[in-house]
Amino acid sequence: MKILLASSIDPAAIKVLESHHDVVRAFNAPEEQLIDLVRDREAVVFRSGVKISAAVLDAAPNLELLVRAGSGLDNIDIEHARSRGVQIVRVPGSSAQPVAELTFGLLLSLVRKVALADRLLREGHWPKAQLGGPLLAGKTLGIVGAGRIGSRVGEMGVAWGMRAIGCVDRVTPEVAGGLAGRGIVLADFDTVVAEADFLCLHLPLDERTHHIVDARVLSRMKDGSFLVNVARGGVLDEKALYTELTEGDRVLGAALDVHESEGEGVVSPLAALPNVVLTPHIGAMAWDSQRLIGERVVELLGAHERGCLDDLL
Ligand code: MLT
Repeated sequence: MKILLASSIDPAAIKVLESHHDVVRAFNAPEEQLIDLVRDREAVVFRSGVKISAAVLDAAPNLELLVRAGSGLDNIDIEHARSRGVQIVRVPGSSAQPVAELTFGLLLSLVRKVALADRLLREGHWPKAQLGGPLLAGKTLGIVGAGRIGSRVGEMGVAWGMRAIGCVDRVTPEVAGGLAGRGIVLADFDTVVAEADFLCLHLPLDERTHHIVDARVLSRMKDGSFLVNVARGGVLDEKALYTELTEGDRVLGAALDVHESEGEGVVSPLAALPNVVLTPHIGAMAWDSQRLIGERVVELLGAHERGCLDDLL
């Protein structure tokens, strides 16, 4: 198959793809370059950071398959792809554990000031008195979007002695039963926001969730609470967060792995604040998970070529 590899994936998977297919590599290429490179391609493999716009799709008359090497679909013009008969496949499950683990990494880094302590120590300071913070155990972990990733976070929080409450978009008896079985209390969005000591965002980005956490929501967070966003930058109004952290008195700090603007050279105004921890969208970057995602990408492309992709889905 003629494949455009538009993002870097696991090196072993790249090797297999390059030995079986005609692969053009262009990692995180801007739209104009994608338009140019996609012309004769039958499949595109990509992650976040690559926008599959209508213009990219229109430039690819032979395109049959979009392989999202991860879970989020917010960087694809889905309707346009469907209207052109391009199939979209993704690898959703493999990101749940690494993103859930990073959520706790960020939470601890934020509340126990690990990143700040590291910076200060490197500068020769020993400010133990400034580096206290709350325990997680005994506190309420609020999960906005208690789906595959969020419910794993809740389950891990419960194991750490936290009370986990979460909201979901559509409550079915199966979803409610699954959450209850993991010790997560189902609540509505406003209750989760109001009761959480640590509010974690795990919901997909679409028209309905864009800036779902805005100034109004931030003003309703619990006094002395913390916020973690490992979902998508667009679900959080970062300007409103900056105002809350600099002028408000409710939110004590925030950790963000995802950002409204991402990529090389972008520095968020939030980076100037000591009570903010920032990472460059590394939620899914656990080696083990990337290996599994790479294997699945190879499998999906092979199945498509053999005409039996639907058997795998
Ligand atoms: C995902 O949606 O799977 C993650 O954001 C990882 C990524 O593609 O960069």
